[in-house]
Amino acid sequence: MNDNHQHGDFSIQFAPLQGYTEAAYRNAHSACFEGVDAYYTPFIRVEKEGFRSKDLREIDPTRNRAPRLIPQLIASTPEKAEAILSLFIEKGYKEVDINLGCPFPLIAKRHNGSGLLPYPEEVESLLRLVSRYTDISFSVKMRLGWDSPEECLRLAPLLNEVPLRQITLHPRLGKQQYKGTTDLEAFDAFRHVCHHPLVYNGDLRTLEDIQNIRTRFPGLAGVMIGRGLLANPALALEYRQGAALPCSKKMEKIRQIHDLVFQSYEQQLEGGEMQLLSKIKAFWEYLLPDADKKLLKAIHKSNRISRYQQAVDALFYGNEQK
Ligand SMILES: Cc1cc2nc3c(=O)[nH]c(=O)nc-3n(C[C@H](O)[C@H](O)[C@H](O)COP(=O)(O)O)c2cc1C
Repeated sequence: MNDNHQHGDFSIQFAPLQGYTEAAYRNAHSACFEGVDAYYTPFIRVEKEGFRSKDLREIDPTRNRAPRLIPQLIASTPEKAEAILSLFIEKGYKEVDINLGCPFPLIAKRHNGSGLLPYPEEVESLLRLVSRYTDISFSVKMRLGWDSPEECLRLAPLLNEVPLRQITLHPRLGKQQYKGTTDLEAFDAFRHVCHHPLVYNGDLRTLEDIQNIRTRFPGLAGVMIGRGLLANPALALEYRQGAALPCSKKMEKIRQIHDLVFQSYEQQLEGGEMQLLSKIKAFWEYLLPDADKKLLKAIHKSNRISRYQQAVDALFYGNEQK
């Protein structure tokens, strides 16, 4: 949880993805691959009934082994944010990320995530927390707006006033969800008015994508990568090394991640074979999109653990033969 900048002034961060970058995955990834400077938890929220027990488990420091893990909160009011913040502080975290980007309609329509961006006064009252908790280093992860990129420009003076470690900007609108293209012009416009270290997030899948974004936006503090790292868990390491890993080495390491994630689900889940299968299949949803479709399909179709293991062996074995 220390503020390490081991890779100089350009950091690569693993984006939070609810349902994918869980503790089991983060632990396995950080054990097998170097190159990621910080991992983020998917957002934690507080409901009428309190915290979800799964969320409490997921941020428990004894279950997390990534060297730098930053928990993320999502809230529509300072009161809710404070409840979550107290939990993070109790668990010993010193860095916290505030979600102003989530586009899911059910969440956004209650003024959470990117649904808060059209309301500067509400954003301001939420961000007042940042100046009150001086022992915590805050960052913000946001989109351009809910409805228009004007929203982030209007918020810039307000964001500039509070002490933030960084802003991560995903240049889409909330109403776009994940459709359409990213708006790099709008990212650039925000970059010119933002006084905080700025991190780019969105659709980075290859070494060239990272290089291009860095060249296009000089002075970026780093990039945050989600689906690109799920597809190619070696991406951050490859960027650091300036070259792709040999295929056999990469497959060997991905197999290791898989086995670690599988083992932790096996220990953690008590719901039997079907629950284990449905959890571990999520591991394959974004992974290796260029792998043989038939082999991937066999993994997704398997309805017994033994079948699943055979399908996984076939995929790794098949690739190693290439
Ligand atoms: C399934 C899914 C779950 C996500 N969960 C979160 C989340 O909990 N918190 C968050 O800030 N962003 C979340 N995101 C957004 C990602 O962190 C990231 O901003 C987005 O995927 C764009 O980056 P990418 O193209 O590198 O994946 C999620 C995205 C997806 C697809």
